[in-house]
Amino acid sequence: MQYRKFGSTGYEPSALGFGCMRLPLLPGDDRKVDEEEAKRMVRYAIDQGVNYVDTAWSYHQGEGEPIVGRILQDGYRERVALATKMPSWLIGKREDFDYYFFKQLERLQTDHIDFYLLHTLNQAYWDNYVKLKVFDWAEKQLADGRIRKLGFSFHDDLSVFEQILNGYDHWSFCQIQYNYMDVEFQAGQRGLKMAAERGLGVVIMEPLRGGSLAKETPPAPVKAVWDRSDVAWKPAEWGLQWLWNQPEVSVVLSGMSTMEHVKENLTSAGRSGVNSLCAEQCQVMKDVQQAWKGLAPVACTHCEYCLPCPNGVQIPQIFEIYNNSVMYDNPERGKRRYQNEIPQESRADNCVECGACEGLCPQALTIIEYLKHAHASLSEG
Ligand SMILES: NC(=O)c1ccc[n+]([C@@H]2O[C@H](COP(=O)([O-])OP(=O)(O)OC[C@H]3O[C@@H](n4cnc5c(N)ncnc54)[C@H](OP(=O)(O)O)[C@@H]3O)[C@@H](O)[C@H]2O)c1
Repeated sequence: MQYRKFGSTGYEPSALGFGCMRLPLLPGDDRKVDEEEAKRMVRYAIDQGVNYVDTAWSYHQGEGEPIVGRILQDGYRERVALATKMPSWLIGKREDFDYYFFKQLERLQTDHIDFYLLHTLNQAYWDNYVKLKVFDWAEKQLADGRIRKLGFSFHDDLSVFEQILNGYDHWSFCQIQYNYMDVEFQAGQRGLKMAAERGLGVVIMEPLRGGSLAKETPPAPVKAVWDRSDVAWKPAEWGLQWLWNQPEVSVVLSGMSTMEHVKENLTSAGRSGVNSLCAEQCQVMKDVQQAWKGLAPVACTHCEYCLPCPNGVQIPQIFEIYNNSVMYDNPERGKRRYQNEIPQESRADNCVECGACEGLCPQALTIIEYLKHAHASLSEG
């Protein structure tokens, strides 16, 4: 196992961390974790040098923390840094901080959390935490040793990320979604560097875009690029090595759901290193990014020149969802995101074809036409 820097904390995490959001499930019951197999996998990873385990209140319908607590018995708890997260969406009043935190200690069968995160911060959750003075509460737990390091996980735009970094002087770390296709998404590469420059450890989540970048048989144009390379890595390893190559990355969480994933990713982590990719391999990664992008039906660059739409249609956001749903061949996820992330009054069928956007688009996209395709694809069935 390779070990890395974790900002200015002095902690040295394993390159690979165990993300416990996608533990193996029992055959025939996709809601129940196969706890025996999960135990075998997590303990095997720890025996091979993994020292960072990440969970959260909500994982596996609330069963995740108790399961991780049981897995880490028999001396395993002491061998890892344990990370879990305050469920931001459940916090309505100050008393909730204690309520959830002490329940988490119980569920995890521990008296402290090594890395405690405010979960999935966005503008609204951040404002709520500031209003409820979360730092007064957290600093008491830090002083009492129940929390060892405080951080946050993040899902919003870069400007919100910067605001949160600036909003508290004592963050030790953050957790961001980052992979070779999300370089400019949410915090992205700029956020990664910004956090690292301030001495924060940076934990990577969704390093393989939840598995979309790890398919054994990627789309033909992507596969053609891999095939050109002398290195016979699988797509998952390419994605992980791209991350470990970067000095600002502290630990890469992988949500491994089979023992085979664990073994493969341990092997990959063992040969990882900062700046270890050669020029040819870096070029392969750039070509792979382009090959994936070429699969997107709409060449929208998210510049937002088209906004505001006079009728309130969230044009770039809709194209982002549509593109991802087609590129990664995941129409069900696209439909779910369209329903959950785009309010009804901002969906594509609110377009009245005034054409104001098309005159503003630097890519000269036929936006009206694309909106029709997007809506049809994201609403059907
Ligand atoms: N704080 C937050 O808001 C937040 C959000 C998301 C995640 N997280 C944390 O970050 C962790 C990592 O994110 P993630 O679970 O999305 O990670 P990920 O590595 O992007 O996706 C995991 C999936 O990738 C595939 N995979 C992994 N290794 C593979 C291999 N060697 N070969 C083939 N496929 C492989 C598997 O997909 P298949 O099962 O389809 O084969 C696996 O389920 C989570 O487990 C969780 O702890 C936090």
